[in-house]
Amino acid sequence: EKGTYSHYMMKEIEEQPFVIRKIMSEYSDEKGQMCMDSSIIDNVRNCDKLYIIACGTSYHAGLIGKQFFEKISDKPTEVVIASEFIYNMPLLTKNPLFMFISQSGETADCRAVLVKVKEMGYRTLTLTNVKGSTLSRESDNTLLLYAGPEIAVASTKAYTAQIAVLSILSSLVNNKININIFKELSKIAYTMETLCDDKENYKELAEKYLVNSRNCFYIGRSMDYFVCLEASLKLKEISYIQTEGFAAGELKHGTIALIEQNTPVIAVITQECINLNTRSNIKEVKARGAATMVISMRSLSQETDEIVIDDINELLAPLATIIPTQYLAYYAALLKNCDIDKPRNLAKSVTVE
Ligand code: M6R
Repeated sequence: EKGTYSHYMMKEIEEQPFVIRKIMSEYSDEKGQMCMDSSIIDNVRNCDKLYIIACGTSYHAGLIGKQFFEKISDKPTEVVIASEFIYNMPLLTKNPLFMFISQSGETADCRAVLVKVKEMGYRTLTLTNVKGSTLSRESDNTLLLYAGPEIAVASTKAYTAQIAVLSILSSLVNNKININIFKELSKIAYTMETLCDDKENYKELAEKYLVNSRNCFYIGRSMDYFVCLEASLKLKEISYIQTEGFAAGELKHGTIALIEQNTPVIAVITQECINLNTRSNIKEVKARGAATMVISMRSLSQETDEIVIDDINELLAPLATIIPTQYLAYYAALLKNCDIDKPRNLAKSVTVE
């Protein structure tokens, strides 16, 4: 039920802090320690490479998951778009594990890959929000997202739930950087709440930058780049503003030619190592007329940045950074009178290949 909310999407955006806390309670033992089915942990630990298969928003969560598995667990990981896997199957290692990420657990493109890799005799694991869904039933193991039903076509809370579950799994597999995931997630749930409290700001920014624009760019580097891919999918799918997420360093290799007077360019800066370089990319597009907006982490922020996020762990920052971008998409669509929960041409679960 939508309750007092005018749209499911808004309700689902605002449920995210609760979802993070729910996931922490579902994946903890009676002493409050992080835990998961040991056979799942062993399967990830024992494979020589993890292949993550997904589509759309779930694919974007997979890109972040790869960073967790490689940086936290030291496990080589490759992320493949499900609909591409069949034609361009990566050269597989001897002992791979296939992980499917799917909110609905019904996506046909993922199922086609699942059927194929099972035929090849490989192990499979599904991360899904829907208990008893097709992918869950047909995989060896399942990890649930505990996000509660997601009704709006635009995925919001399932994305953050996927990232949270991936962070827990990766640290249980092997925590080579000694990150305290639960401590960081608790902090992030609180940060998410403070971000949700700032929605009037996002509404004004959507009005100023987006409503009258034909197109828009999100730019960022490293983890921020992956967030940009998801932020741009959100904005384009519900507001119909043509939006692309770019690796900030790639702009000068072609895309900067598209920048015109007042083209909105939204930069995301949450990691110290990319701050200066992304800032100089902002200057480059500004000099060509772009209307720039910056989303940054407090310790890296400048006075003129439009959205500032309290400092959180850089690897887990996408969980918080995505929130303002979900609101920007929501308000851009609202102010353009779009059908927010049911954007044109789209279905909640895509059951054809
Ligand atoms: O149910 P799934 O996670 O498998 O769905 C994958 C995509 O169809 C889905 O994430 C889609 O991209 C969303 N509408 C994006 O908001």
